Amino acid sequence: MERIQSALAKARAARDRKMQGAKPGSKSQVETGPWQDLAEVTLDPKALERNRVIAHNPGQNAASFDLMRTNLIRALRTNGWSRVAITSPTQGCGKSTVALNLALSLARMSDTRVLLVELDLRHPTQLSLMGLPQGQDFAAMLATGRVDYSQIRRVGQNLAFAVNSRPLASPAELLSAARTADMIDEIEAKLRPDVMLFDMSPMLANDDAIAFLDQVDCALMVAAADETTVTEVDRCGKDLAKRTQVLGVVLNKCRHMEQEEGRTYPE
Ligand SMILES: Nc1ncnc2c1ncn2[C@@H]1O[C@H](COP(=O)(O)OP(=O)(O)OP(=O)(O)O)[C@@H](O)[C@H]1O
Ligand SMILES: [Mg+2]
Repeated sequence: MERIQSALAKARAARDRKMQGAKPGSKSQVETGPWQDLAEVTLDPKALERNRVIAHNPGQNAASFDLMRTNLIRALRTNGWSRVAITSPTQGCGKSTVALNLALSLARMSDTRVLLVELDLRHPTQLSLMGLPQGQDFAAMLATGRVDYSQIRRVGQNLAFAVNSRPLASPAELLSAARTADMIDEIEAKLRPDVMLFDMSPMLANDDAIAFLDQVDCALMVAAADETTVTEVDRCGKDLAKRTQVLGVVLNKCRHMEQEEGRTYPE
């Protein structure tokens, strides 16, 4: 465990050194600079509703995501972290839905800038969850080795997203490439998000998520009630804990619970 802590601290320190080298500028400079220059889009409310995306509006429906957001922000601030992987043991547990809801809940805090990055490259769904037309292709940009900010869009003042239109058959090499890590660092240095959420592949299906976990500070595991087994949670938790800090398990798809108990976020 101590070895992981020290490896994470080293990786973080290396990133911080790179950031300082990048002369990122203060937050107020960014507000009138690179962040504002991102193309702005409007999410489709009907698509959001259809896809269980509810956290853009405050209220009872968003309460569980707001609680998750508050616990997350506290953990990030306490540790000086910003990068969060959202993964699950197997496919279909609700990672992408949780990632987008959490991003929208975070973005309702006007002093918090959020960048949602879709890195489940075999199965990109964020554009359709948001009800936006195909077109953006962040993975194709990563493959070119050059950051192109037209591949990052903005919703309102403090939520930006980097997502994909087409699936990639075998993305682990791209996800583990040093150049990919450099490009993510470059984007972070320029946009200075307070939180970067990475919508990742399922851990037990392939090595895609593992290929990128060195680049994050911590991870949330999404498990589906009635679908995910205890053994899967255990295997996924152990695999994650070898590579990053596991913040907690989000229990999703809870049909048998009261609505307000539907998701949990143990500390
Ligand atoms: N809380 C929930 N209750 C019921 N269904 C849900 C819930 N959250 C997500 N779903 C549904 O489960 C399906 C999978 O959700 P989602 O795409 O977010 O999961 P995922 O883990 O990202 O899947 P994949 O591994 O295929 O990318 C979708 O049809 C989604 O609408
Ligand atoms: Mg997904």
